[in-house]
Amino acid sequence: MKVLTLVGSLRKESFNRRLAETMQERYQDKFEMEIADIGALPHFDQDEELDPPAVVKEFKQKVLDADAIIIVTPEYNWSVPGVLKNALDWTSRGERVMVGKPVFPLGASMGMAGTLRAQIHLRQILVAPGVSAKVLPPGGNEVLVNFAQQKFEGESGSLTDGSTLEFLDQKVDAFIEFVKEG
Ligand SMILES: Cc1cc2nc3c(=O)[nH]c(=O)nc-3n(C[C@H](O)[C@H](O)[C@H](O)COP(=O)(O)O)c2cc1C
Repeated sequence: MKVLTLVGSLRKESFNRRLAETMQERYQDKFEMEIADIGALPHFDQDEELDPPAVVKEFKQKVLDADAIIIVTPEYNWSVPGVLKNALDWTSRGERVMVGKPVFPLGASMGMAGTLRAQIHLRQILVAPGVSAKVLPPGGNEVLVNFAQQKFEGESGSLTDGSTLEFLDQKVDAFIEFVKEG
């Protein structure tokens, strides 16, 4: 199974990036994961939607080629970061590459809500007509890594919190089943 992962934070020591990298390593026997460089995408411009810049074309092709998409995002001002919304906007116009694509949303934050508000917004975006992704249903499948500063190794290491990893293992298996259902 080929997975493309979108990380909503660009900072080097991002908890969300480290969560994506933890998954890339921990589940390497279950799927092959590439992390997309969404920071390299220009701002969405509707004048260019039918013939976008090469870097956008490459990104959209990677989305098309993936069997599934994982989105690991922080919450910025009660919503998703602009860089993630920008990437999703590119996917939603011209060739609509997210249509029917299985998506697993996750997030990590330093506060108590663990990106809950951002994930609610993200789920709305993912079912907008231009996106029309096939999102892992929420009931019990929300991965909200709160108090992230206590759950990762040092300032740049991976997720090490045992119960969070155990929960993540279960949800990853649920997502794989969801993808296989087609
Ligand atoms: C612009 C900005 C807005 C933020 N807004 C929220 C917010 O609405 N809710 C929240 O829980 N944390 C918020 N935070 C704090 C982030 O959860 C925290 O910085 C987190 O570590 C960012 O994820 P990262 O480590 O992957 O970069 C915000 C941070 C930034 C930079």
